[in-house]
Amino acid sequence: MTSLKICCMGAGYVGGPTMAVIASNCPDIRVTVVDLNAAQIAAWNSSSLPIYEPGLQAVVESCRGKNLFFSTDIEKEIEEADIVFISVNTPTKTQGIGAGRAANIKNCELCARTIAKVSTSNKIVVEKSTVPVRTADAVRRVLACNDKGLTFQVLSNPEFLAEGTAIDDLQRPSRVLIGGEETPGGQEAIQKLVSVYANWVPAAQIITTNLWSSELSKLVANAFLAQRVSSINSISALCESTGADVSEISRAIGSDPRIGPKFLQSSVGFGGSCFQKDILNLVYLCESYGLNECAEYWHQVIKMNEYQKSRFTKKMVERMFNTATGKKIAVLGFAFKKDTGDTRETASAFVCRDLLAERAKIHVYDPQVKREQMMLEFDYTLNVNTTTEPDLEKLITTSPSAYDACDGAHAIAILTEWDEFKTLDYQRIYEKMSKPAFIFDGRNIVDQAALRKIGFEVYAIGKPW
Ligand code: NAD
Ligand code: UGA
Repeated sequence: MTSLKICCMGAGYVGGPTMAVIASNCPDIRVTVVDLNAAQIAAWNSSSLPIYEPGLQAVVESCRGKNLFFSTDIEKEIEEADIVFISVNTPTKTQGIGAGRAANIKNCELCARTIAKVSTSNKIVVEKSTVPVRTADAVRRVLACNDKGLTFQVLSNPEFLAEGTAIDDLQRPSRVLIGGEETPGGQEAIQKLVSVYANWVPAAQIITTNLWSSELSKLVANAFLAQRVSSINSISALCESTGADVSEISRAIGSDPRIGPKFLQSSVGFGGSCFQKDILNLVYLCESYGLNECAEYWHQVIKMNEYQKSRFTKKMVERMFNTATGKKIAVLGFAFKKDTGDTRETASAFVCRDLLAERAKIHVYDPQVKREQMMLEFDYTLNVNTTTEPDLEKLITTSPSAYDACDGAHAIAILTEWDEFKTLDYQRIYEKMSKPAFIFDGRNIVDQAALRKIGFEVYAIGKPW
């Protein structure tokens, strides 16, 4: 006998894992994840899940078919639910007012319209998607237009999981944030959602607040995290010019508890579906309220990231005697970070794009990214059209292993910090490379001294060379 029914609209990187963890911690709650995309739902119902995330398969298999379901019957599942989560994508607008900056919340609005249309009982609607501040007001007003006199409470419950560690983040969250209306009905709805999380999250880690603070906190959390990466990346350039070592700087400043050691890993640039999108969203919000200095301040975080990505490729070309034309370059890693197959906004794609412009021959190896996914990334994110750029198929080879990618290469570029790249047999790789053999470490994961001893020319972000 189940006590509560949850429906989640959107079976993506957030909806799938989040609901699987709720279901596994709350055996009395019936959780159904719905999506417009039938192939996505079919994959969630198969043995080959649509996303790669350590630990996810086990959690899904432990409750799928018991109290966790994946369905395309959106209307029926909404109608039966007490709580409906909206966990749909909210990408940056590509057209119209705010294009290139504002978040497009059309999917959220569509969800609200569907909920209003098909509901026959009062419900709590939870914004799980990352949205511009005051989106709950739009959702609430759309819901209020239902013609059955129903009452909906809208809550904001942003998600803070990071890909690659999603299951751990969901099982042991640093905090769960729930925002609601400061009315008796709003507070009652907050408590209902608190009672769901209280099944496994300690009470002290469940923060309740008002709607707008909750919505804005999500954008600010991502902006602060990305800002740390851009800050240390800006220092990496200064290290290369001065002979200081960026890892030593991170160690020295990170041991101040007011600064802390996390998110100080210099890199080829941050990627992922959210940092850039959410900062642009914040920039647009600031601009819309006439706060141009605030907008410009946050925009710098993105600009520094662009600089870091292009700086890396420039260094590569410079080191290789100012030409990469016709050279075989082994690209190790295409995902935007390790332990995920996600390639959205990955720095690797930008480096590949710039190497392609030099007419280099790129051989990519990533343990989780398939060729079709790489090509989609070029098509969508970089606007490198595979049909108008007929050479792309020839210029990009996907390799079955790191060793294949490096065989005969002039240079290796390490662009994702997969653990397996730390322990490759670099002596074996060196012997089969064209000489001088270059390694460009965009993640600072290899032992540079050992590689130099083998004979490699090594360039690593923020390191003396
Ligand atoms: P995603 O693209 O992986 O998944 C979104 C899913 O929603 C898609 O499968 C899509 O088909 C579905 N969808 C769209 N409109 C729908 C509708 N009307 N009805 C039913 N399904 C619909 O996106 P994601 O990465 O899961 O992100 C979702 C939201 O969570 C975004 O706002 C994102 O900013 C935020 N977020 C993402 C992460 C992350 O790590 N990916 C972390 C925290 C927050
Ligand atoms: C990030 C946040 O960490 C999550 O809290 C948030 O929920 C999520 O965005 C979201 O809203 O989508 P995610 O993008 O999955 O999570 O991964 P991160 O670990 O934050 O890494 C983002 C990018 O920054 C990666 O490309 C990573 O390689 C890079 N990074 C991170 C660095 O270059 N250096 C660091 O020290 C840390």
